[in-house]
Amino acid sequence: MTDRTTAKRVAGEAAVEAIDDESVVGLGSGSTAATAITALGERVAAGLAVRGVPTSWQARQRAREAGIPLTDLDADRVDIAIDGADQVAPTALLKGGGGAHVREKIVDSDAERFLVVVDDSKVVDAIDQPVPLAVLPEARRPVADAIAALGGAAETRMATRRDGPVLTDDGAIVVDAAFGVIDDPAALATELSAIPGVVGHGLFVDAADAVYVGSADGSVAVC
Ligand code: 5RP
Repeated sequence: MTDRTTAKRVAGEAAVEAIDDESVVGLGSGSTAATAITALGERVAAGLAVRGVPTSWQARQRAREAGIPLTDLDADRVDIAIDGADQVAPTALLKGGGGAHVREKIVDSDAERFLVVVDDSKVVDAIDQPVPLAVLPEARRPVADAIAALGGAAETRMATRRDGPVLTDDGAIVVDAAFGVIDDPAALATELSAIPGVVGHGLFVDAADAVYVGSADGSVAVC
């Protein structure tokens, strides 16, 4: 097991300890959130009664394998959501490395409490990675122009093993918009939300109630 794998696992396991009996739980996407789904499945097997709301096809599959009963947002409000992030800055998260950020934002923002689980390499002073956008396919060029007008550079994310773009679970393409260091994530989030054809972006501003940061030595800091 690599150091990074250990750091992710301990973060996911620690956050799952915060889940109470009879909770509706938002189930995040990505490898760190997957450790939380696995740990939650173990608590369910031991008698914890929860219902999960998956944030992606991948999370749904993992939850099924882990034996977690599922529900949806029509039937239930989310009590607590646990999800990963690509970067964690003081006032914002960056998500969407797996292209699941639209459903993640819907589920995570519905939650009474939103817990973020990351390894310590994800904690930064300022977000500087490209911001993933979910974009309607017809809007690819106009969105790229709008990103350029904001001072950024847009690149359509391509699938590695076949020709064509990565598609989200909802049929959008993923455009990664590079802006360098983002000094004001809230202002950029507002501008990105206003671009026609952008279904959602990966900036989550002032969203987390707690961040569980795992380290390779097995320790977890909660901030
Ligand atoms: C998917 C996400 C993930 O939570 C994010 O990419 C982190 O993934 P990992 O835990 O595998 O590093 O936002 O859209």
